[in-house]
Amino acid sequence: MNTFLDFISSISWWMWMLIVLALVAIRDIFLQRKHTISHNFPVIGHFRYILERIGPELRQYLVANNREELPFNRIERGWIYASAKKENNYEGFGTDRDIYSHHHIFINNAMMPYKIEKDHPNAVDKTFLPCAKVIGAYNKRKKPFRPASVINVSAMSFGSLSAKAVESLNKGVHIAGAYHNTGEGGLSPYHCNGGDVMFHFGTGYFGVRDSDGNFSMEKLVQLVNDNPHVKAIEIKLSQGAKPGKGGVLPGAKITEEIARIRHVEVGKDVLSPPNHSAFSNVPEMVDFIEAIAEATGLPVGIKAAIGKLDQWEELADIMKTKGHGPDFITVDGGEGGTGAAPPSFADHVSLPWVYGFSDLYKLFQRKGLSERIVFIGSGKLGFPAKAAMAFAMGVDCINVAREAMMSIGCIQAQICHTNHCPSGVATQSKWLQSGIDVTLKSHRLAQYFKTFRKEFIEITHSAGYEHPCQFKMSDIDVNVDDHNLSKELDLTYHYEKTPVPFKSMQDLKDCIYLGGQYKNQNT
Ligand SMILES: Cc1cc2nc3c(=O)[nH]c(=O)nc-3n(C[C@H](O)[C@H](O)[C@H](O)COP(=O)(O)O)c2cc1C
Repeated sequence: MNTFLDFISSISWWMWMLIVLALVAIRDIFLQRKHTISHNFPVIGHFRYILERIGPELRQYLVANNREELPFNRIERGWIYASAKKENNYEGFGTDRDIYSHHHIFINNAMMPYKIEKDHPNAVDKTFLPCAKVIGAYNKRKKPFRPASVINVSAMSFGSLSAKAVESLNKGVHIAGAYHNTGEGGLSPYHCNGGDVMFHFGTGYFGVRDSDGNFSMEKLVQLVNDNPHVKAIEIKLSQGAKPGKGGVLPGAKITEEIARIRHVEVGKDVLSPPNHSAFSNVPEMVDFIEAIAEATGLPVGIKAAIGKLDQWEELADIMKTKGHGPDFITVDGGEGGTGAAPPSFADHVSLPWVYGFSDLYKLFQRKGLSERIVFIGSGKLGFPAKAAMAFAMGVDCINVAREAMMSIGCIQAQICHTNHCPSGVATQSKWLQSGIDVTLKSHRLAQYFKTFRKEFIEITHSAGYEHPCQFKMSDIDVNVDDHNLSKELDLTYHYEKTPVPFKSMQDLKDCIYLGGQYKNQNT
């Protein structure tokens, strides 16, 4: 035994390395058949796999320039991180963007900015920026709702996000006076921490389904009655990253908690089909919306990514003749995010936000319906200048998903679909989410929303307006091509927005339907 140990200890370190490399080479050539590269190039072939694995991180941190990454470049991410931490989010020395590039937008500033007086709501609170329209007012719903913030958290379910992330977002919207969209996974206890909630469901009817997976009005009414912080209901028709794509929630991911919240069975695969079972055509969908609004008293809207317009045309005609229909329409852009989607869907199915929204808005405007609908936009709009463009085009509120995730620590690792999210935001791993400090992160989300609103108000004032709803298409220019470097939005997208009735910021502040914590100050 001693002789053997003496022999082992006499082998020098470089001999050990040669032995290990020789063993790896034997394994590569003779013992594995899966990887041709390792077989043909034993040992060194492994470097290719290592570099492929760490390539995204190398590019993100070392190689990519400030403006070239997608979905969000370093400057955009940095602005969200700094805003969320209330750090210096300015840049020095002027823009580093090529402002002559295609699709670059310019906001036309006024000769003299809008002046706020001493007692103006924004002199008191520089971040006060509620929605200029009341959701559900036109259709005389029993409980209309004016979102107290023009920026809100977009649909992301508990399941795609961790419990701690959902709780941070809900506590954050409570501080910021915004609303929190539940996403498709039902209403979890993490959505019930004080913030206004928009309850969202898709074809799986999670949280409001019967034992056969069909929609249950009884369960929805119960949910609304038990949770007065639910202010509106959103029916998902599609989302930009995967329109018309059904999905399977694997039984292995269905814990007792998820089963309880979603009203599904533990450990059994659950199907979310591409189509709704509660309606199968546009007239039936309108009846469904009315039935829900009638039973719950809440405003009801639909969320969709835009492509073909024929069924939207049918919807507009029904709304015109019947005098009712959705209270709001959330338009998601093809650039929208998701927990998981096939690349060919995410890259190619449905229009980018500006094209989809302008097509849809024009259609409803032509039918004289744009005033009675609250338009919500989502698709990388969580930056004040992008939001100004969206408001000029006709939106009344924006929803943000990935920007909200970044404000609570997401590093754009782009592995939401693997359950290995390193920041603990998009994973169910208890270990990975244990690093999230909910109190700190909720303040970060709130601060991002507040900074966004403050800068958005300042841009609005710079353009000579009191509220962003006053932006017109002609206030924003967009670079269209080399020949004709820039055109106003109305000339680019061929419509002018219908003016939003707006008296003053004070009038919005006094509104009895105003959400968030402001409502307590008014009663
Ligand atoms: C992790 C994650 C989960 C999502 N879950 C849903 C969902 O349940 N229902 C839905 O309609 N959209 C869902 N979305 C899409 C977002 O709500 C939003 O429409 C889209 O990401 C565009 O907004 P953004 O550019 O601000 O991220 C999800 C997005 C992400 C990133």
